[in-house]
Amino acid sequence: MTYKRPTVGIVGAGQLARMMAQAAIPLDIRVVLLAADPTDGAAQVVPDVVIGAPDDPQALRALADRCDVVTFDHELVDPALLAELEADGHRVYPTSTSMALAQDKRRQRLELGEAGFPMPAHANVDALADVAEFGAAHGFPIVLKASRGGYDGRGVWMADTIEDAERVLDGAQATGTVLLAEQLLPLDLELAVLVARRPSGQVAAYPPIETVQQDGICRELRVPAAISVTLGAYATRIATDIAEQIGMVGIMAVEFFVSRGELYVNELAPRPHNSGHWTIEGAATSQFEQHLRAVLDLPLGSTLPTGDGVATINLLGEGADNDPRRRLGDALAASDGHIHFYGKEPRPGRKVGHVTAVADTLEVAIAQARATTETLLGAVPAEGWTRDDR
Ligand SMILES: Nc1ncnc2c1ncn2[C@@H]1O[C@H](COP(=O)(O)OP(=O)(O)O)[C@@H](O)[C@H]1O
Ligand SMILES: [Mg+2]
Repeated sequence: MTYKRPTVGIVGAGQLARMMAQAAIPLDIRVVLLAADPTDGAAQVVPDVVIGAPDDPQALRALADRCDVVTFDHELVDPALLAELEADGHRVYPTSTSMALAQDKRRQRLELGEAGFPMPAHANVDALADVAEFGAAHGFPIVLKASRGGYDGRGVWMADTIEDAERVLDGAQATGTVLLAEQLLPLDLELAVLVARRPSGQVAAYPPIETVQQDGICRELRVPAAISVTLGAYATRIATDIAEQIGMVGIMAVEFFVSRGELYVNELAPRPHNSGHWTIEGAATSQFEQHLRAVLDLPLGSTLPTGDGVATINLLGEGADNDPRRRLGDALAASDGHIHFYGKEPRPGRKVGHVTAVADTLEVAIAQARATTETLLGAVPAEGWTRDDR
């Protein structure tokens, strides 16, 4: 009998789908996309594309009919539509239930809190009185967050006073945004743990990643993270427990805060994640390949780093007049960083690519990744390198 290539359908066609498609090639896995627009990053490089909105039932069905398993590049899908696909016998990984949890920060706090995972103090906010009560119990400043739809810090507001909070609530009311409040933790650093799980139960976790965020957006990744072995093992245990508890299938990132030496769960993302981009060159199996293996129920690969230090820097767009792609030649000539462009126009603050360096020490990896990034941007980024410059 002729061999039938496994086919993975991806809802969404951004950089994550693009890098998944890249990882699918050597394993001869076919990828079909549901792209909102033919110019989307992944639609530029994948031949099999269904054009349609991710919340269009017909488009979703057209995708599902063409593949063995449906997976995701983003969380902007209606879990009820996914549940319909599941009911019709389509494989959807992560499941509609995992996707529903990932879309809703209130629900994550509730379910993960009930399960006993460590969390910052938090409360649902439906009126200013809820903020006043939370502020009285935990003090200001506080963090207000959109329960749904936020990313890269859009949907996260710091409030020093009740008046600040009122302004955020007014804005949220105008847009129909549902909010929650959290205590603002003083952060030692932030971590992410990537863990992959197959339907048959096999689990594989990557070493904890230090994620350096500035203004709510991830700028830099560092492996190994500057934490103790004990804390790292605890974070890995929590991420693995969450994956098992929610019946995760695929790769999932769990974001953590470390505050005064203590670990707190921030949020989870049930898909390849920005915090895992270092794995393309920096780990034995990239997160994208690992995700494909997991959703197809194939054996998972080694998660060991390929060097003693791995650093990844996100390329943030500065505007159309400073497109880093124009300096590709200079960057390739001058430095050792591995360059990834996502096929996106460089609007300010938009992630348009990343650079990874693998070296004998983390310091050297950071220096190499920064040198390549500086060449691509033509200068040190406008906002400087990260606050805790080393
Ligand atoms: N409770 C908190 N205490 C301190 N910093 C926070 C808190 N919540 C969010 N932040 C900061 O804001 C960033 C973005 O928040 P997050 O909830 O992860 O939103 P997003 O969905 O945009 O990633 C975090 O990575 C962290 O730097
Ligand atoms: Mg986050």
